[in-house]
Amino acid sequence: MVIELAVAMLACARIGAMHSVVFAGFSAESLATRIVDANCKVLVTADGFFRGSKTINLKKIADKAVTLSSTDGVKVTSVILLEHLKRVTVPQGAVLPKNEPLTDKDFLYETEMQKHADKESSVEWMQAEDPLFLLYTSGSTGKPKGIQHTTAGYMVYAYMTMKCSFDAKPDDVYWCTADCGWITGHSYLLYGPLMNGLTGVWFEGVPLHPNPSRIWNIVDIYKVNKLYTSPTAVRALSALGDKWVKETSRSSLQLIGTVGEPINPAAWLWLHKVAGEENCAIVDTYWQTETGGHMITPLPGATPTKPGSATFPFFGVNPVLLDAEGRQIEGPGEGNLCFDRAWPGMLRGVYGDKERFMKTYFAPFKGYYCTGDGARRDEDGYLWITGRVDDLMNVSGHLLSTAEIESALVAHANVAEAAVVAAPHDIKGSFPYAFVTLNVGEKLDAKLIGELKQLVRDKIGALAVPDVIQEAPGLPKTRSGKVTRRILRKIAEGCDTGLGDVTTLVDESIISELVNGRNRLG
Ligand code: WTA
Repeated sequence: MVIELAVAMLACARIGAMHSVVFAGFSAESLATRIVDANCKVLVTADGFFRGSKTINLKKIADKAVTLSSTDGVKVTSVILLEHLKRVTVPQGAVLPKNEPLTDKDFLYETEMQKHADKESSVEWMQAEDPLFLLYTSGSTGKPKGIQHTTAGYMVYAYMTMKCSFDAKPDDVYWCTADCGWITGHSYLLYGPLMNGLTGVWFEGVPLHPNPSRIWNIVDIYKVNKLYTSPTAVRALSALGDKWVKETSRSSLQLIGTVGEPINPAAWLWLHKVAGEENCAIVDTYWQTETGGHMITPLPGATPTKPGSATFPFFGVNPVLLDAEGRQIEGPGEGNLCFDRAWPGMLRGVYGDKERFMKTYFAPFKGYYCTGDGARRDEDGYLWITGRVDDLMNVSGHLLSTAEIESALVAHANVAEAAVVAAPHDIKGSFPYAFVTLNVGEKLDAKLIGELKQLVRDKIGALAVPDVIQEAPGLPKTRSGKVTRRILRKIAEGCDTGLGDVTTLVDESIISELVNGRNRLG
């Protein structure tokens, strides 16, 4: 999260090249998959960075990804390397990573900048529908999807939603705590604020380090008046008690927005009462990588809010709730959240895969864009997002694919089968809970659990590592061989009974074995 990242993204926009920012918490394999899928030519990266007291050797990950991705036809021709570690103070408890040798593809950022310092690069004028960037997001089938956004539509939407949802004014000092590796970092850290001419705060660090007052201290130092963050961060902060907030002033704050996952009423009220001291508009914004910008959100000062509800659609957006048969639910009710017309910031494709684009978003309900989320409409017309209804899970606001984690687990020689479900978590919202069936004669001991976690870390990244791995003598399956995740989800939630209809299963006795196995986990 350095300023050179903003420079690199804007430089791509200026020369008409698509950028594809990859979150630095992903593994080399994940980075390589994205490089290959988008046929990337240039990789811009840094030598490393610190996350709290942890050191991340980014260069090593980048080198490995470049090697892994050098398949036929896909060749990264140059790596632009920012020497970041040389200029930052090493945090207490952290160590500088070993210096990775430069390869013949490496170009140092500073050297290149100096070489070209007196050159003006002219603007490449693009057509409205020309692509601006790609951003990969998890897909239910496992492989991440390259979401494609366009130049004009995306920018209009990022500008307009930023302006209305946050009541953007030129004098604002605005801070979005998201990372540029996610869409929030694109729309509401870079493009939206800059197009609205705001002063922005960019933060490289973690909100709880060195102590839980960090966010509020930064607000005070820079007189931030608008803050955009995640429910996970709010829950983590509120769990540590009010003391850390109360010892800061926060008198500049006027608005606090959240995004990424449903915000529970308790976290919403904590923001309103404790952090905002009843002086701030609380703006729960619902949207997706694919939507480019806010879809359901209150307008601060104008929309009466209810804690936990994203309230009403943005201008021009028409949400509908559909039942399983695709019939519209009128009035109060719960169903699949879809949109019945296009909007400027809508994705224009899944890179290189038109069929997947159509299948994922438009096939589930003909004539609608399908979000993959469930929602409830109350008697006053307020919308409440209930969470994913597909095989994606939301962990700390990051979408993960159960299929992708499962395929990482079954890559282990001792694992025959795996099923991953989302289990509820007080702070993260949910966490990945894995059931693994081992090959005959194998046992799930601490060593194997460690190996499985490492495998997920290597194949996807630390953010996808299951918190719990439980041995499953078998997985509950229907006669057609489909794993019934609904039941596994209940078991992971801690239910012993009320698991729903189990009569369609091939082997009902598996259920009690799984419940007992879970209870033995302690
Ligand atoms: C979830 C992040 C409830 C939802 C901008 C969506 C939310 C997914 C909210 C997209 C919210 C995002 N309330 N759920 N305010 N905001 N989500 O693509 O499940 O990383 O489909 O985009 O996050 O995540 P993505």
